[in-house]
Amino acid sequence: MRRVLTYGTFDLLHIGHLNILRRARMYGDHLTVAISTDEFNLNAKSKVCVIPYADRKALVENLKCVDVVIPERDWEQKTRDVIERNIDVFVMGDDWKGKFDFLKQYCEVVYLPRTENISSTDLKHTIRNRGTLVQSVSVAQ
Ligand code: CTP
Repeated sequence: MRRVLTYGTFDLLHIGHLNILRRARMYGDHLTVAISTDEFNLNAKSKVCVIPYADRKALVENLKCVDVVIPERDWEQKTRDVIERNIDVFVMGDDWKGKFDFLKQYCEVVYLPRTENISSTDLKHTIRNRGTLVQSVSVAQ
């Protein structure tokens, strides 16, 4: 069996997430997705998730292309995960290009092109701006 591993936050699950997970799964027969915990996001990336870890996990693990979800709790676990889980292919979006080349000694490393014009950050901005727009329309009326 060819095992694939990828990492991410997957907040406000969107089409870019689905695209990369489906494409990652095509590199093998089993896909493990490591999802950043709320604590890791806050402490290591200064990011506050809209959707809590348990819900992000439930959403991702119920996608057809995903076999297992594990928590991502620190930057250092990648090498350990690749070795302990017998990973053949490590996949990330190309916003991370070159950053995980140190894993090439253990498995194939693939960076896939990101889906254009969508991200969790953009969605958060869009929702915030629409809220402001609705408020200003109702104030004007
Ligand atoms: N990804 C992608 N295309 C997008 C957005 C994300 O291929 N448009 C990929 C990333 O490259 C990564 C995975 O999806 O491999 C998880 O990314 P994540 O950081 O959770 O998603 P973003 O939408 O980029 O989140 P943020 O805006 O918070 O950085």
